[in-house]
Amino acid sequence: MSLKLWGGRFTKETDKLVNDFNASISFDKRMYAQDITGSIAHAAMLGKQGIIDKESSDKIVNELKKIKNEIDSGDLEITDEYEDIHSFVEATLISRIGDTGKKLHTGRSRNDQVAVDTRMYFREQCDILSGLLKDLQTVLLDMIKQHTSTYMPGFTHLQKAQPVTLAHHLSAYFEMFIRDCGRLSDCRERMNECPLGSGALAGTTYPLDRDFTASELGFRCPTGNSMDSVSDRDFLIEFLNDLSIISMHLSRFSEEICIWNSNEYGFIEIDDAYSTGSSIMPQKKNPDIAELVRGKTGRVYGALISLLTTMKGLPLAYNKDSQEDKEQAFDALDTVRDCIILFTGMLETMKFNKDRMADSAKKGFTNATDAADYLVKNGVPFRDAHGIIGRMVLYCIEKNIAIDDLSMDEFKSFSDVFNDDIYDAISLETCVNSRNTAGAPGIESMKAAIERYEHYLD
Ligand code: ARG
Repeated sequence: MSLKLWGGRFTKETDKLVNDFNASISFDKRMYAQDITGSIAHAAMLGKQGIIDKESSDKIVNELKKIKNEIDSGDLEITDEYEDIHSFVEATLISRIGDTGKKLHTGRSRNDQVAVDTRMYFREQCDILSGLLKDLQTVLLDMIKQHTSTYMPGFTHLQKAQPVTLAHHLSAYFEMFIRDCGRLSDCRERMNECPLGSGALAGTTYPLDRDFTASELGFRCPTGNSMDSVSDRDFLIEFLNDLSIISMHLSRFSEEICIWNSNEYGFIEIDDAYSTGSSIMPQKKNPDIAELVRGKTGRVYGALISLLTTMKGLPLAYNKDSQEDKEQAFDALDTVRDCIILFTGMLETMKFNKDRMADSAKKGFTNATDAADYLVKNGVPFRDAHGIIGRMVLYCIEKNIAIDDLSMDEFKSFSDVFNDDIYDAISLETCVNSRNTAGAPGIESMKAAIERYEHYLD
């Protein structure tokens, strides 16, 4: 039996290089389960509608189930001499049940078949990735709860700005991952329409029941236009966009971990299991995993831009260019999945050097705003207070001390409004914990955030 589904109108063998260039089985074989499940639904529908006889339909369905079980268990190997996974499954079916198997492709094209396979495959991946993000958020929430009083400098322009807590800093990432999960679920919702029954491009003359196959395969409804159904790859572009944003978030977090891990900062200690050494410099312990997660963002963006570019000039309906959607989407998916898993492990085992973080917050004049606010609360207009504290900071820089180290006399030399309570007013604890607007680092605000996160993960 021929390895091809379409030899009839050809008089010559395909060139060997053309075969290799054209084939997609080396990468689309990972969708075998979706391909077979789609075929089972299609065959059952053909039988139900009387398009093929019930006996043939049952025979096809049973044999397809066996084929799937054998591939699952490793007893049946998917070999690369077929053009694609669709050809492999159909040829295997025909080799086992003969002419009956030849009825499967009635009222169907590989164009709607690949569209349904791809949607089913990536629909499941949306759920898997959301699950992994939730695992990461569970680890994050644990750390957030532990570090509501771990003080550190908050930065703008990578300059120390105002004190925050580690819990507050980590919760910024928690929020990003909430949005990432939301995007994946939106994407899944739009993806969840069934293109099966669209045929090659113009539907079919058979009385297919598209509602039946859509519901058998867990889709919300059939797609609305057969030409759009076979040529649309928006759902993959959206998925790759979501992956790109997840990668961007992980990359920003990784960048901070690299900075925090530097000798100059020394905020964290990455676990030995998640760092590597140097072949020449014995003292080195490098944050390679964080760097790789940051670095791999490029290939994920690449997949998005690649598919957008592939699609931009395609006339309706199906064109072989669309086959280029899968390899990079699979690569981006594998990359992001691995990044989330590794990042979660690295985070979970990381140790924070609390003293060093608090010390860094104390030294960087992060309480200068609070010192100015102290003056304002004692009747000085804010613009004047800003100027007074600015001169005070300059004085401290010259003496190489923190604002807290000034004596009462020194304070008074800048403004006689200052009193003994200034020391408490500009302590790290006060600076952080008097910031209790919603979303701020103060302990009361963080309690509310933690409650919200617990509810979200529930
Ligand atoms: N391997 C193809 C793809 O991934 C399947 C559809 C092929 N259809 C066709 N008419 N050649 O897009």
